[in-house]
Amino acid sequence: MGSRIVATGRALPRTAVSNQDLERFMDTSDEWIRTRTGIGCRYTLRSGESLAEIATQASRSALERAGMKAGDLDAIIVGTVSSEYTFPSFACQIQTQLGADFIPAFDVAAACSGFVYALSVADSSMRAGDFRRVLVVGADALSTFVDWTDRRTAVLFGDGAGAAVLVSEPGNRGVLGSLLRASGKHWDLLSCRAPGVRGTLDSEVRRDADDAIKMKGPELFKIAVKSMEEVSRQVAERAGVKIEDVNLVVGHQANRRIISAVAERLGLPQEKVFINIDRYGNTSAASVPIALDEAVEQGRIREGDLVMLNACGGGLTWGANLLRW
Ligand SMILES: CC(C)(COP(=O)(O)OP(=O)(O)OC[C@H]1O[C@@H](n2cnc3c(N)ncnc32)[C@H](O)[C@@H]1OP(=O)(O)O)[C@@H](O)C(=O)NCCC(=O)NCCS
Repeated sequence: MGSRIVATGRALPRTAVSNQDLERFMDTSDEWIRTRTGIGCRYTLRSGESLAEIATQASRSALERAGMKAGDLDAIIVGTVSSEYTFPSFACQIQTQLGADFIPAFDVAAACSGFVYALSVADSSMRAGDFRRVLVVGADALSTFVDWTDRRTAVLFGDGAGAAVLVSEPGNRGVLGSLLRASGKHWDLLSCRAPGVRGTLDSEVRRDADDAIKMKGPELFKIAVKSMEEVSRQVAERAGVKIEDVNLVVGHQANRRIISAVAERLGLPQEKVFINIDRYGNTSAASVPIALDEAVEQGRIREGDLVMLNACGGGLTWGANLLRW
């Protein structure tokens, strides 16, 4: 018995922040951001706005499309590093807001690989027979962790949430396989200390620069390309699938050049790659499920298609899931 994504959903904060908006207070330019990253705009939380509510909205939308109620779920697994609380978990907050009391709910902390990790955990638990219907969410608000005076990182991140409903199913469709990897020795390529205040762009409160996201962009770039290529090849090989038969890659949206380089190294044409970084920036664990939801909505994924999800993020962590839609 395997698992299949039967519906997806997404939700974003209300405020869109364009590159031109950033130009007003930062030494940067729309031209630099677009050419170096592919980002044109991102959504950021405002003070008073709650990421848990946004993630609940994405979850409700996925449940509605699945024709299910929160009470039908057996578990909630959330990829996130943005919970406002060390405990309770973000998953417990979503569980309460959905009204799905008593079912297990827990977080998976793998930064930008959070959704790929959470989907793999959900699929394995379902194969083991533990759960039959699982809500998998990716939600992050890294804009609240950046130092808004550091142009090297502040322009990259956006906030949001994406969700998928998985159902146990026999047959050939669904998650064909997942592969997860991590390399803690590279922790300092992308990191953020847990303590410290969270500052939204509109608030007076600013996160201390020492506690803000630290990133070694150029080194990370190279590892991200290599690791996502390798893990995608390996997951396809294990599933007995030729990489050229993959219909669409829905990868983590960290940088348009990374996404294109991974596709090129895999020998896949650009039309087999889904890109929406221009409108959302890097939404961390939310990026893959938001992109998946848009790809489905736009008709880029049809029944029977082979879909590769891949991601790389702080940890370092990386991984891939191969799906037969
Ligand atoms: C962050 C990233 C876009 C930077 O692009 P890059 O081409 O490597 O740029 P560099 O960091 O080498 O900086 C090049 C120049 O642009 C400048 N620059 C950096 N950010 C800038 C900005 N927002 N606006 C204008 N100029 C900027 C730098 O100061 C530097 O100028 P200098 O040479 O005079 O010091 C790129 O390295 C990247 O995407 N890395 C991977 C990020 C990633 O994967 N993150 C998440 C994984 S989950």
